[in-house]
Amino acid sequence: MLRHSIRFRLNEILLSMSDAIDMISPQLNRHHQKVAYLSYRIASEIGMSLEQQRLVLMQGLVHDIGALSVDERLSLIEEEQPDAVNSHAFRGARLLSKCRPLKALADGIRYHHLRWDYGRGMEFLGRPIPINSHILHLADRVSVYFDDAPNVITKSSKLMEHFSKGENTRYSPMLLEALAELAKREYIWLEMSDREPIQYLPDYVMEFGKHDLDDFLQMARMFSRVIDFRSRFTATHSAGVAHTAGKLAELSGMSADERKMMLIAGYLHDLGKLAVKNSILEKPSKLSINEFDVIRSHSFYTYKLLSGIEGFHTINQWASFHHEKLNGAGYPFHLKGEQIPFGSRVMTVADIFTAVIEHRPYRNGVDKQQVRGIFEKLVKNGEVCEAAVDTLVGNLDVFVELCNREQQLAAEDYESFFSDEETAVLV
Ligand SMILES: [Fe+2]
Ligand SMILES: [Fe+2]
Ligand SMILES: [Fe+2]
Repeated sequence: MLRHSIRFRLNEILLSMSDAIDMISPQLNRHHQKVAYLSYRIASEIGMSLEQQRLVLMQGLVHDIGALSVDERLSLIEEEQPDAVNSHAFRGARLLSKCRPLKALADGIRYHHLRWDYGRGMEFLGRPIPINSHILHLADRVSVYFDDAPNVITKSSKLMEHFSKGENTRYSPMLLEALAELAKREYIWLEMSDREPIQYLPDYVMEFGKHDLDDFLQMARMFSRVIDFRSRFTATHSAGVAHTAGKLAELSGMSADERKMMLIAGYLHDLGKLAVKNSILEKPSKLSINEFDVIRSHSFYTYKLLSGIEGFHTINQWASFHHEKLNGAGYPFHLKGEQIPFGSRVMTVADIFTAVIEHRPYRNGVDKQQVRGIFEKLVKNGEVCEAAVDTLVGNLDVFVELCNREQQLAAEDYESFFSDEETAVLV
């Protein structure tokens, strides 16, 4: 059993979040790692402290966390549209500012598309703007400029020609000077164009500290919003699954820490859905076989994304095996019986329960009698765990009420996430 003293490394958590966000748009080719890499190089070139260098590196890893659709993401690689690009920055900052362990990242990200504008970009509506925002802005644009470079070295020698056009309006001259220095060093551009730019940074720079289970729970909850808010139809799913699974864990006699682990696993179980296109997620009718095959890949990607976090093995299994079935007919690993840990069995029951009682594009949720019938059949077929089902069905009123309440809260969060109060000031 996991002891409360276990701590998770923030660099591994952020790298896995960064990879997850980049899965939404593979065309962008590790955009977040590139921006993080270059932001760090610029910060170190202008002599910022190690702490500040780390902060901008962390911000780079998740800077577009508020851009949830592929279209929105692809529009970010084109010329900047002041209002449109700012709304994803504001939304990302709003998500992060509500998450205590990542709160410090919010401010720099909120303004990462603000123009320098002859120094006017040092403030916005009377608020001082962190230099990190301007670093991220420049690194972001340079990384987009490099994305399709046939020859990186040739392109790096032309870099300043491109970026000194309109320099005083868009970017800080001090940062452009730093960029000009970096432009002379081929290795920087070769490293940045590699598949994993971050691997070239010294280990001590990637020391972001460690976090306990409670902090991780907050981060998982925040990230569940990124997973769910891509579509109105999934907007509250992970919240329902997490709390159903957490309550099942509690009623099954698992410890308080294990309940937290179950909540985390529930929040992240569909992480791999970031690799599935919105057109499939939002399809108003039943899926075709091909589309269903695409969906079936998602729990594999959840497994892959979470496997980079040390100490996370159990939570990863609970999250990623939620489509495995006791009789071996599940996916993607086709595990059987004892190969499926109890926590994963609980997750499967929580996922099915949440899915059948919530409304989907092509059908309404089912009533309690139907829930009983569905699970009875699943147990009879040897697909799901009888003990977990007994706990659920034996307390059905509690679970329906809990799941509805948590999904209602998530729905309110969804509405406020897309409300434009803050961004309205930009128009
Ligand atoms: Fe952005
Ligand atoms: Fe970006
Ligand atoms: Fe799933």
